[in-house]
Amino acid sequence: MFGIKDKTALITGASRGIGKSIAELFCQRGIKVAGISRDITPINEIQIPSSTSGSIKGYSCDIADWENVKEMVLKVLEDFERIDILINNAGITKDTLLARMTEEQWDDVLIVNLKGAFNCTRHVIRPMLKQKFGRIINIGSVVGIMGNTGQANYVASKAGLMGLTKSSAQELAKRNITVNCIAPGFITTSMTENLSEDIKSQMKKTIPMGRFGTPKDVAALALFLASDESGYITGQTITVDGGMVMK
Ligand code: NAI
Repeated sequence: MFGIKDKTALITGASRGIGKSIAELFCQRGIKVAGISRDITPINEIQIPSSTSGSIKGYSCDIADWENVKEMVLKVLEDFERIDILINNAGITKDTLLARMTEEQWDDVLIVNLKGAFNCTRHVIRPMLKQKFGRIINIGSVVGIMGNTGQANYVASKAGLMGLTKSSAQELAKRNITVNCIAPGFITTSMTENLSEDIKSQMKKTIPMGRFGTPKDVAALALFLASDESGYITGQTITVDGGMVMK
């Protein structure tokens, strides 16, 4: 069992998909979770097994908004007293070919996916620096490594997250704060469900394991990276993609 019980975690985008799965696993393992989303109803409905000391509370926040994030982090600290783990998971897509991409589509994706992660990191590292412990996990994407047609804005945001991961890892290492990035491949969630069957079957052919991933596949790595045992790993991007990208 990893050393993680009784820690506190702030997870963005915890209302569904990968973020919800990480929140559920963390609660099952005894972590106290602050789940962030614009709609917190699904977060507060997450079922926690009675056998665990884990818990979850939802906080409504738009991570793209600096002041909103600042207030949210203060509220979480009031309730939980410390934040040991930050999972920068919330993300959006606005896909289209570069030749058709509007300024708004570019800005919206960069502001939520990249600036949102900066906003949360910036406000959460203050208590982490004081307590000399922290685990920050950014949820990137394999397309941030490979590139992808029709996703210039999303790919730029995810490549940016890998850069943010490395710089923050270097700055924070001496205070026992690790920063890593998980790059999922194709994971079955609402973000991917609307892709055509044709695109899905083409994508499956590029995955050596021959199947799409599940949110639980990603949550398992997040649990390890959040644990005491991962303490000598920092600045890394690790793929969870059934072998799609081999570096
Ligand atoms: P999803 O669309 O199912 O969930 C996204 C979550 O982010 C939701 O809880 C939503 O409310 C929240 N969110 C969006 N904008 C927000 C904002 N401004 N403020 C606060 N919360 C906000 O997405 P999914 O698939 O679970 O993805 C989670 C992360 O994993 C994203 O960063 C995504 O880019 C990444 N990812 C997903 C892959 C997939 O195949 N599903 C593959 C690679 C990366």
